[in-house]
Amino acid sequence: MKRFILDTDPGIDDALTILYALASPEVKMEAITVVNGNCPMEQGVINALSVLELAGAVHIPVAKGMDKPLLLPVVNAEVTHGKNGLGYAELPVPRTSPVKEHAVELIHELVMQDPGQINIVAIGPLTNIAMAVRLYPQIVGAVEHIYIMGGAINHCGNMTPLAEFNIYCDPHAASIVFHSGIPFTLVPLDVTYQTLMTAEDLRRFEAIKTPLSDFIVKASRYVMEYLSESQEIMGCALNDPLALAALFKKDLLEISPLVLDVDTNYGVSMGKTFADFYNYEQKPANGDAALDVKARDFVDHFLERMIKLSQ
Ligand code: BDR
Ligand code: CA
Repeated sequence: MKRFILDTDPGIDDALTILYALASPEVKMEAITVVNGNCPMEQGVINALSVLELAGAVHIPVAKGMDKPLLLPVVNAEVTHGKNGLGYAELPVPRTSPVKEHAVELIHELVMQDPGQINIVAIGPLTNIAMAVRLYPQIVGAVEHIYIMGGAINHCGNMTPLAEFNIYCDPHAASIVFHSGIPFTLVPLDVTYQTLMTAEDLRRFEAIKTPLSDFIVKASRYVMEYLSESQEIMGCALNDPLALAALFKKDLLEISPLVLDVDTNYGVSMGKTFADFYNYEQKPANGDAALDVKARDFVDHFLERMIKLSQ
């Protein structure tokens, strides 16, 4: 079983990832660490706790993390994820609270308790992870692997013409993580924008009529409307769930070792991730990137898990 920490900015597809993790016996989610991103950090914590409560998984610790990027001003994504971050879904105020440790302390504690055994699935801006690397450099040799939803290599951006949202929010943090020496796999828009949960797929949840299926429908419908209106994409892109799949269903992805980097300059391409495919700089690969995916196979697997959990 793969053990991991979910570092997240919940967020509609982040919430789906929490549920997908709970529905997958191949993985054990040790903790959820929250970062500013789709919504302000404090709201993200409320969302994480509410989703866990909805799924009956209040035993999973949730920690508050960084509430702003390392250098840049705060950016949130209300237009994509709605006012509270969960689209049309409104969950009751959680009865549980976050743990007292800061996300960065919790990451350090969990990783050093079991060196080489803990993965990180990072599905928001990389601020918490970069801070953990800087404050506790001993985690570099101790994290098993980081799976990052972020970037757009051969794909256009979804935040600017060139940059993907998570990396754009904190490119300096991304740069620290990419060059930290921790093995990582980037799961960029190139693959996540192929994995679409369609309106027809969503109708299968409508038929179930449980609080969980109702949540999935109300949250996903919001992002579906946004993507169809703003980007002519017909479906809910399963960005974050695909990053979790990279941890335990690698056969669905085509992954290549590459020299990967991010533009941290304050110009038109700030936050753009890129690969040195021809190795102009004659450097060894510093990470892996997923550049293709068996998209419908993944969506079917995801639906199977989520439908079972919802019933
Ligand atoms: C990423 O940005 C966020 O809005 C999503 O939750 C996902 O992590 C996609 O670009
Ligand atoms: Ca996210």
